[in-house]
Amino acid sequence: MSLDPKILQLRQRREDARLGGGPKRIDQQHAKGKLTARERIDLLLDEGSFQELGVFVTQRTAGFGADKQVVYGDGVVTGYGTINGRLVYVFSQDFTVFGGSLGEAHAEKICRLMDLAIKNGAPVIGLNDSGGARIQEGVVSLGGYADIFLRNTMASGVVPQISVIMGPCAGGAVYSPALTDFIVMVKDTSYMFVTGPDVVRTVTHEDVTFEQLGGAVVHNEKSGVAHFAVNNEEHAIATIRKLLSYLPQNNLEEPPLVRAADDPLRADEALDTLVPDVPTKPYDMKEIITRIVDDGEFLEIHEHFAQNILVGFARLNGRAVGIVAQQPMVLAGCLDINSSDKGARFVRFCDCFNIPIITFEDVPGFLPGLTQEHGGIIRHGAKLLYAYCEATVPKITVITRKAYGGAYDVMSSKHIRGDLNFAWPTAEIAVMGPDGAVNILSREELTKADDPDALKQKLVQEYRDHFANPYIAAGRGYVDDVIEPHQTRAKLIAGLGMLQNKRDTNPPKKHGNIPL
Ligand code: HXC
Repeated sequence: MSLDPKILQLRQRREDARLGGGPKRIDQQHAKGKLTARERIDLLLDEGSFQELGVFVTQRTAGFGADKQVVYGDGVVTGYGTINGRLVYVFSQDFTVFGGSLGEAHAEKICRLMDLAIKNGAPVIGLNDSGGARIQEGVVSLGGYADIFLRNTMASGVVPQISVIMGPCAGGAVYSPALTDFIVMVKDTSYMFVTGPDVVRTVTHEDVTFEQLGGAVVHNEKSGVAHFAVNNEEHAIATIRKLLSYLPQNNLEEPPLVRAADDPLRADEALDTLVPDVPTKPYDMKEIITRIVDDGEFLEIHEHFAQNILVGFARLNGRAVGIVAQQPMVLAGCLDINSSDKGARFVRFCDCFNIPIITFEDVPGFLPGLTQEHGGIIRHGAKLLYAYCEATVPKITVITRKAYGGAYDVMSSKHIRGDLNFAWPTAEIAVMGPDGAVNILSREELTKADDPDALKQKLVQEYRDHFANPYIAAGRGYVDDVIEPHQTRAKLIAGLGMLQNKRDTNPPKKHGNIPL
């Protein structure tokens, strides 16, 4: 039986839509090592789960010859599907159509998707490959981006929003991702900038490459705009799928609980000797984390940025947790501008989405000096303090070694509503380290001494004996218990169980005024 011509026509139109900007441009996309918008969606979602919306939407572009080229979909593929059986909304920009630039119809498709995501409470994933606002559509395309920015903001803290940068993205195509929770960049093929090298050359006369201006390395190491740098698009997709496994669908749900194979009472004796005897000697905090969490699995976020602080997701007895920890191997784990920003943003994300926060603390204090002070360490450090103070999710802290000065207060101390605070016997909790304290307290005595070095050594030892331990804090109840390091996993799991139904609120207000 021959098919109805109307069905044949539908199929033809669907095939035209599938080809986006046409075979030649698809080949060009592949030649750059990039997948097409549809290939990316197929890889991201569970097989056969994608339901496309707005397939036959066409552009309203006029002028500069753009109206002669009518392409179904207007340069973006939108719809919903599942990842590991859980609903997600996805849009994927098609660089083969007007360079993935955003016109009126393109914007409307993304807005409709975001409205559905907010109403139905499921994550939005944006696969960005776009030259930003479509120049031919002028202010209409700017308006389209503003419509998206508004929805990004409304969705913030309601559903997780993840952006992947998969090509040269400019203008609105970077500002929309910047409003989302996580940005993944593909090395060597993805770029983010307000505007590209050509315009930069015209305006500032700087001659820069795509890579120098806004490559994956720049945004992961220097600017901190991106959270993940991945080797290729397949790696990007795998990263999103993994990331989502730790997250709830929306702010009213709990993160998914997985069946844990790892023994909740597992005691790792190696932890007992991991912190060196010499207080200035570094050790790898990542090793501590991976020895404690389920199956040693730690999904690090912002791995290449502000490495003096570690943030990421893990599980404890199958329950997702956000981990914040100092890294003594970098800048002695001190808090500086970038690490404060990094930590604060992560703490706030966890709090938005009901993910308990585990803090491993070894912090000699805030990084002093002109660069930091002039750069606003007071303002930036205050962000981390604010974020911890306002967070109402379960918060458990383990002080592995130093907890000095303001940094003691900041890192989820009990005073700012830390629920359970433990210290290892190696903990040192005081206003400042022994050297600094002796220099200030005994300045006169030291100047007058016959042998200032010997006196200083004696005074430092006295200070260390008195303050550089966890027992004064424990005596006050500022730490709940001093625990042997190998007990940490069991203690954290018991604590999380106890805090499972925690309810805490902040005073009613429109919103707070975090120091930005
Ligand atoms: C219309 C665009 C476009 C745009 C690219 N194209 N950007 N068409 N509007 N914004 C088209 C090109 O004309 C070209 O079409 C095709 O896409 C591929 O672009 P190329 O330049 O050949 O590719 P490439 O060399 O890889 O460079 C990509 C690029 C560059 C870095 C994105 O095209 C670029 O700099 N574009 C302009 C970026 C920008 O300034 N956008 C406006 C931002 S303002 P043909 O047919 O020749 O293949 C904005 C406001 C939002 O977004 C508000 C922010 C707060």
